[in-house]
Amino acid sequence: MTDTNVTPMISMTNVQKHYGDLHVLKDIDLQIPRGQVVVVLGPSGSGKSTLCRTINRLEPIDSGEIRIEGELLPAEGRDLARLRSDVGMVFQSFNLFAHKTILQNVTIGPIKVRKAKPADAERRALELLERVGVTTQKDKYPAQLSGGQQQRVAIARSLAMGPKVLLFDEPTSALDPEMVSEVLDVMVSLAREGMTMVVVTHEMGFARKAADRIIFMADGAIVEDTDPESFFTAPKSDRARDFLSKILGH
Ligand SMILES: Nc1ncnc2c1ncn2[C@@H]1O[C@H](COP(=O)(O)OP(=O)(O)O)[C@@H](O)[C@H]1O
Ligand SMILES: [Mg+2]
Repeated sequence: MTDTNVTPMISMTNVQKHYGDLHVLKDIDLQIPRGQVVVVLGPSGSGKSTLCRTINRLEPIDSGEIRIEGELLPAEGRDLARLRSDVGMVFQSFNLFAHKTILQNVTIGPIKVRKAKPADAERRALELLERVGVTTQKDKYPAQLSGGQQQRVAIARSLAMGPKVLLFDEPTSALDPEMVSEVLDVMVSLAREGMTMVVVTHEMGFARKAADRIIFMADGAIVEDTDPESFFTAPKSDRARDFLSKILGH
């Protein structure tokens, strides 16, 4: 039985985007239910980052529709600020505020955007820093932390806004190998707790362990949309087979 009453958390319908002559998102249709963990795979340049960036409107689209819980993405103003707190994004490059302490990095959004009381924001921030395992670093500045610690702070900062959705764009690609798992462990626990997540990653272990669904992109289009087991054991397209042989073949 199909359930037409449940509004998807993220809904993309006939989404098209160009950069000049380059057709970077080709007729994207993607419905993501609440609590689903979607891993987006695909070769470099296939449009994975652009897809993520359109979902929180860091990039506008040419045509089509994107909705979060049924609401069209706002173009600007206060509604856009609210969208950005509902749809958190974690980038490869952490993007922490260099001149603010770790604690301030996590409290500033709730205080400025959500109008939280500083004492409440601080209490919540300390809980989140505890959860990602960096409480002892709270009074330091980002540059004093390892990459893995900074990325965990970036996740805590996103969580502090109480997001409905978290987007991750290659969150471990800039990390030294020994720090990858401490970030992936936090992401796995969020996935298990039911956070709706879209994760661009090359970490196939994470994809197998945490993903409910794999989206494989090539040349701006969704080429496969399936469960991890099917994708990794029986990819249907030549593009996906080729991708997997390159990424798993060493
Ligand atoms: N701001 C931009 N202006 C022009 N072209 C861009 C821009 N951002 C990305 N592109 C191009 O769009 C394509 C898709 O990029 P991207 O979404 O970053 O792919 P991926 O994340 O899968 O590597 C690439 O060919 C890239 O060079
Ligand atoms: Mg990218």
